[in-house]
Amino acid sequence: MCGIVGYFGDKTAKNFLVDGLSKLEYRGYDSAGIAVVNEGKVNIVKHKGRLANLTENLDGNKAEGTVGIGHTRWATHGEPSDINSHPHQSSKGDITVVHNGIIENYLELRQWLKGQGYEFISQTDTEVIPNLIHYYYKGDLFQAVVKATERLEGSYALGVISGQEPDKLVAVRKDSPLIVGLGQGETFIASDIPAIISYTRDIYLLEDREFVVITKDGAKILSGDGTEIKKDVFKVTWNEDAAEKGGYDSFMLKEINEQPKAIKDTLASRLSMNNDINFEDFKLSKEDLDKIDRIFIVACGTAYNAGLMGSVAIEKLAKIPVVVDIASEFRYKDPLVTNKSLVITLSQSGETADTLAVLRDCKKVGARTLAITNVVGSSISREADNVIYTMAGPEIAVASTKAYTTQVVVMYLMAMYFSELRGLMTKELDKELREALLLVPEKVQIILDKANEIEETANLLANEKDVFYLGRGADYALCIEASLKLKEISYIHSEAYAGGELKHGTIALIEKGTKVIALLTQRSLREKMISNIVEVKARGAEVIGIAYENDVLDESIFDKVIRIPELYNLVSPIVAIIALQLLAYYTAKNKGCDIDKPRNLAKSVTVE
Ligand code: G6P
Repeated sequence: MCGIVGYFGDKTAKNFLVDGLSKLEYRGYDSAGIAVVNEGKVNIVKHKGRLANLTENLDGNKAEGTVGIGHTRWATHGEPSDINSHPHQSSKGDITVVHNGIIENYLELRQWLKGQGYEFISQTDTEVIPNLIHYYYKGDLFQAVVKATERLEGSYALGVISGQEPDKLVAVRKDSPLIVGLGQGETFIASDIPAIISYTRDIYLLEDREFVVITKDGAKILSGDGTEIKKDVFKVTWNEDAAEKGGYDSFMLKEINEQPKAIKDTLASRLSMNNDINFEDFKLSKEDLDKIDRIFIVACGTAYNAGLMGSVAIEKLAKIPVVVDIASEFRYKDPLVTNKSLVITLSQSGETADTLAVLRDCKKVGARTLAITNVVGSSISREADNVIYTMAGPEIAVASTKAYTTQVVVMYLMAMYFSELRGLMTKELDKELREALLLVPEKVQIILDKANEIEETANLLANEKDVFYLGRGADYALCIEASLKLKEISYIHSEAYAGGELKHGTIALIEKGTKVIALLTQRSLREKMISNIVEVKARGAEVIGIAYENDVLDESIFDKVIRIPELYNLVSPIVAIIALQLLAYYTAKNKGCDIDKPRNLAKSVTVE
């Protein structure tokens, strides 16, 4: 949610600022702006709309200079407009700030600052920050930032510059991500690694309330009382190509196509036909596991949907009760978490505010916490007792694809691991599951090779207003994710329904021509699903089936069937989702939607 960058070095700051922001646009794209110090003056250029609006309007003379900050916005307080865009400046001086996060007590601070003679021109919460810093400024920008941030409630990652100290950039974070990139003679700050990966791989990961003071001598990390904090340099290992489209139309299509490799890599170190499942990073004894009386899986969005799939596998294989919940609900409902609970948080960004809050709350009551994420060094991965990294690598498209499938794969492996620890796994089932999971990358590729056929099927959906997804068992959990994918990128309203639940209300919405996507990967529930399909067909629905290639179907009840290879049924949804991701993708493409930047969404939701 919002991306911030900063540069201090010997080159023209704006080049990095604009490039860095282009890599962070997935965090928000309502407006963009930069501020650069030049000859003791801060020059700000900011515009509503995409980054391109800013770059088109970047007047060379105004934005020259070698120290600067930049911002790409996902609006929270105040509509997207030039005035509400960041950077924001104090009304009494040139202290200038970019901010990611939410200041919860901004109204009270704004009132108080007005009493001190400060004026406000935007509707943002951020504008109180440069004014507060100005209020405390007595010749030392760092000290003023410390004092001002002591009065802020909420979350923030800040980059601060001022013409009065033109050779300094101060930054700090609390509950919003911020990293420091260490280059040769240049130092960067950014909300996330993609912004700096083509400049340096050496970074500092900041903890809450750690301040960075960047000068020509490099970056110093200080605590609020001015004590220097020695930090280890963290080496980024991922490939620079991850932040590039690599010939694909969009990051989403690239990431959909990366799934065979991402899944293979995720399985590689953990699963083979003959060895024990490797959970070195979350090693439990049978006694440890027996102490756990309930598992809570808590996450948001697609990660929550991955949790739903995981719960099906854990309950089926390991017979441990699982509660899956949405982080923003869970945190306010006095959940029944105890020191006998295992709390699993899933996150593709590792920074989602609600998920992080749940993790912290659960730790306080003594629950064991585990994070499953693809982002090494993210807040959630650092704060959980244990972390399991998927091998999805960085995901850039807002609509999550490979992060989802790899999270599901990790949870399936965990379900098998728990089942084996509890002595519940039979030899036959173990063999079947291992074979099936190891075959997933190859089967996923078979679906990817059918992209043209799926693109054709997507023509059936482009003009729809409502689409319904139907499934039972693991297919129902899958429908929820498939439906979210369609909504996110094509803006078509869609709902996921458990086949049997349909007739308790939603079937009233089915009329002639309504599109229903029906999943048939669960053989044991196949006949029940067929009955549900017949019911919607009888009311005029047009049905797109997702079924095994060898499933002999009464074609008269389908308008189209996308065939997928058969696997052990619990595992099949991991393959089926690829077809549904592609269906959503091509539907959005047909409609001319901006697939990587769906309206109103952001990839990393670091505010509540
Ligand atoms: C945002 C993203 C989704 C993501 C959700 C949860 O809404 O657009 O793709 O599923 O946040 O994010 P997390 O990073 O915790 O998985």
